[in-house]
Amino acid sequence: MTRKILVTSALPYANGAIHLGHLVEYIQTDIWTRFQKLRGHECWHVCADDTHGTPIMLRAEAEGITPEQLIERVHAEHSRDFAGFHVAFDNYYTTHSDETRHYSEDIFGKLRAAGLIEVRAIEQYYDPVKRMFLPDRFIKGECPKCGTPDQYGDACESCGAAYAPTDLKNPYSAVSGAPPVLKSSDHFFFKLSDPRCQAFLRQWTQQEERLQPEAANKLQEWLGAPGENKLTDWDISRDAPYFGFEIPDESGKGTGKYFYVWLDAPIGYMGSFRNFCTKKGLDFDEFWGKGSKTELYHFIGKDILYFHALFWPAELEHAGYRTPTKVFAHGFLTVDGAKMSKSRGTFISAESYLAQGLNPEWLRYYFAAKLNGTMEDIDL
Ligand code: 2FM
Ligand code: ZN
Repeated sequence: MTRKILVTSALPYANGAIHLGHLVEYIQTDIWTRFQKLRGHECWHVCADDTHGTPIMLRAEAEGITPEQLIERVHAEHSRDFAGFHVAFDNYYTTHSDETRHYSEDIFGKLRAAGLIEVRAIEQYYDPVKRMFLPDRFIKGECPKCGTPDQYGDACESCGAAYAPTDLKNPYSAVSGAPPVLKSSDHFFFKLSDPRCQAFLRQWTQQEERLQPEAANKLQEWLGAPGENKLTDWDISRDAPYFGFEIPDESGKGTGKYFYVWLDAPIGYMGSFRNFCTKKGLDFDEFWGKGSKTELYHFIGKDILYFHALFWPAELEHAGYRTPTKVFAHGFLTVDGAKMSKSRGTFISAESYLAQGLNPEWLRYYFAAKLNGTMEDIDL
């Protein structure tokens, strides 16, 4: 029987170069989809650049170009690097597209109609000089636990402590250097704590073959014991200035708030496939409609399991789409047993590997030989 299979690799951010760590996943997915194609199945591999968010907006500003110019240039660089390693996507698109905007608005509207969106005011650090709210990674200060200076707003690189940006001592904005002030603003939340989401996810994540055993255990930990309500609502909006899609109100008018990049990123899988369907004359609903008989697989790194095994299936389910058949999570690439590092000279971009005249097949072979179905790291 010919199977119909849609496969995705995680969407790389459009503000940085593809490196050997990224390639673990694209090569793994490429080998898997080539295998399914060789078996005669209808198998499509789609991906895209993940183009929205504050880091991309600020990076473009620093380069003196528009975000649109930045993402266009990076799209060409990423496409060149993937081709250099023989990663043969059926479609390599962008989340900054009409298709991804359409499905973002569609899914958000359906979740709102289902009573799963709530507006709440929250207080966050605001840069009074740059006049913008600051993501955790753009607030620095002294670690509240060990006192190490210049630590990011989410975790300390010296002692490993995790904390809220408001816990930092002597905080300052990494954008302007100014001390941030607390400011309140309305945000849209996806109500993951709703009993419907809890009940659905408990059943979905424990279905056989949905997740690898280690991933299913992790999910069990996040969901808590039966009867325990451990999931918290997810903030899916950001304030201007932000490079992304503006959130429409019920009558379609702009709200002045933007979809958080992690809301529209996985929807970019749908956007890329929709774009491919238009070019190929395929039926989008056959692959994404509720009750679809086709298979949907997401290849991801273990660091983004939370987004793909909790938020994403819950969103799809309650917006009336099919949910993934399975999520495959892999580990990280280490070099000589340690995280790739620019300062130690072990950070290798796809471009620099190829520029040395090294054969891409050597890396493909090495990864193929080392990869397995677990989330263990791979050492180069
Ligand atoms: O972690 C990352 O690099 C994200 N850009 C991955 C997004 S995957 C998907 F959800 F779009
Ligand atoms: Zn510390």
